[in-house]
Amino acid sequence: MAKKILPVTKSRAWMALIDHKKSIGRQHLRKLFSDDPGRGERMTAKASGLFLDYSKNRITGQTLKLLIQLAKESGLKNRIDSMFNGEKINVTEDRAVLHIALRAPRGTKIMVDGKNVIPQVHEVLDRMADFSIRVRSGQWKGHTGKRIRNVVNIGIGGSDLGPVMAYEALRFYSERSMTFRFVSNIDGIDFAEAVRDLNPEETMFIVSSKTFTTMETMTNAQTAKEWLLNGLGGDTRAVAKHCVAVSTNEQKVTEFGIDTANMFGFWDWVGGRYSMDSAIGLSTMLAIGPEHFHAMLNGFHEMDEHFRTAPFESNLPVLLGLLALWYNNFFGVQTIAVLPYENYLKRFPAYLQQLTMESNGKHVTLDGKKVNYNTGPIYWGEPGTNGQHSFYQLIHQGTRMIPCDFIAFVNPLIKVGRHHDILLSNVFAQSEALAFGKTPAQVRAEGTSEWLVPHRVFEGNRPSNVILADHLTPDILGKLVALYEHSTFTQSVIWNIDAFDQWGVELGKVLAQRIIPEIEGKGSPKLNHDGSTNNLIQHYRKNKKLN
Ligand code: F6P
Repeated sequence: MAKKILPVTKSRAWMALIDHKKSIGRQHLRKLFSDDPGRGERMTAKASGLFLDYSKNRITGQTLKLLIQLAKESGLKNRIDSMFNGEKINVTEDRAVLHIALRAPRGTKIMVDGKNVIPQVHEVLDRMADFSIRVRSGQWKGHTGKRIRNVVNIGIGGSDLGPVMAYEALRFYSERSMTFRFVSNIDGIDFAEAVRDLNPEETMFIVSSKTFTTMETMTNAQTAKEWLLNGLGGDTRAVAKHCVAVSTNEQKVTEFGIDTANMFGFWDWVGGRYSMDSAIGLSTMLAIGPEHFHAMLNGFHEMDEHFRTAPFESNLPVLLGLLALWYNNFFGVQTIAVLPYENYLKRFPAYLQQLTMESNGKHVTLDGKKVNYNTGPIYWGEPGTNGQHSFYQLIHQGTRMIPCDFIAFVNPLIKVGRHHDILLSNVFAQSEALAFGKTPAQVRAEGTSEWLVPHRVFEGNRPSNVILADHLTPDILGKLVALYEHSTFTQSVIWNIDAFDQWGVELGKVLAQRIIPEIEGKGSPKLNHDGSTNNLIQHYRKNKKLN
């Protein structure tokens, strides 16, 4: 049973923040900057190669002080220690939460149920490295003796979003003679399109599923097995050369027909959305090689250590988490946009959606009480500058406040003419425009007709963070992901919710299982749903073509 604690809204810091919001809430960033020009340099923090400028937030030194006080009153330091010590902080599943162990160096000691988990982490990493080297070098041969050139990861949620995001992010470092694809959706189109131009003789599937029971993944894996067998003459021995599994469930892997010699394990203390640096990252390691994969793990670890040890005042994940919470709970903000100005990070917002929303989309506290404050905000985004020509209009001139995290790199991985300077000037321009806007006087001074003035005014006072790093490396990617993981955790601690379970995805899964036979069954099955669902099922049955 979780320990009972006072609702956060009754804490001294929370109440002080309500009062403080009344005084600062309407102050414009223009004024905050003109009163205190030094904030642009002062309200920044640096840690292990990441530079955070948070000066364009609607805060003062006092806001920060109170937010940090709130973190302290919520027991954040103890909860960080509990996580790092392997305590079972995922209370509803009675599990430790140890993604930080996945990137802890050899020789570290982290105990779960009396056992040091680090040796097993490194044993799996070593097996992954050995396997990756054999596949990448062509030493591993397919059933007909050809080398493997195509790798298809089959998984969904955390068993897909991390791998696909990391592959896209680190494509620059990837083995270009190989093709990597990702199949997640139960929609057969996903599989069909992923394999349409692949030769089964040269193709390997990685079936990635923590539970090895997820309907989408198991259906896609079965289809993959059939596709392979069709293409390789029906010899079931081919499976061993073309299918490997990543899972915590040895029994189900064996039942599916994959030899456990071709299985890479992980553990129940790794949540799906926190698993990209476990064996779930096998496709990443195949793509970028073990050395780069280890560099990514080191990046994660460096950010873990920063989170664990740095004072809250300069702790990047804590600051990012507190700022998100400030808008979420004191300004009624609903969404936060994450806008990477780096095309390689195009799947980063999608990855963050599962990380943040599956973690903090909760309506009860650890002890089961319904919360009377908002928990996890909606995270979304697109890479810049594409978003500028799509939804930024609403961010600049709409009626909602949408805090933005801009992520950019000082140096490009590939220099193409003037592109990078232009890209970065857009980052700086956007955060400037959001904060300072354009006053009616400025619009008039441009000679604008009076009736057009209101249309051309930018109110400004719209907050943003800018996160900069030198250039996108595996190490920096690890740091960025860990930054958001720990920022998500920071928020969950203050809201006193379990960031590591995901009961909310269960109901739909169960209902779908009930509907499948009603859709596929012969005759006219008796339907016992509500009127709308019954009608939709009937409509589908009546109109679907038999083949
Ligand atoms: O969406 C629910 C969920 O359980 C996620 O948390 C998880 O990442 C995903 O399904 C996939 O689960 P598995 O790896 O067990 O197939």
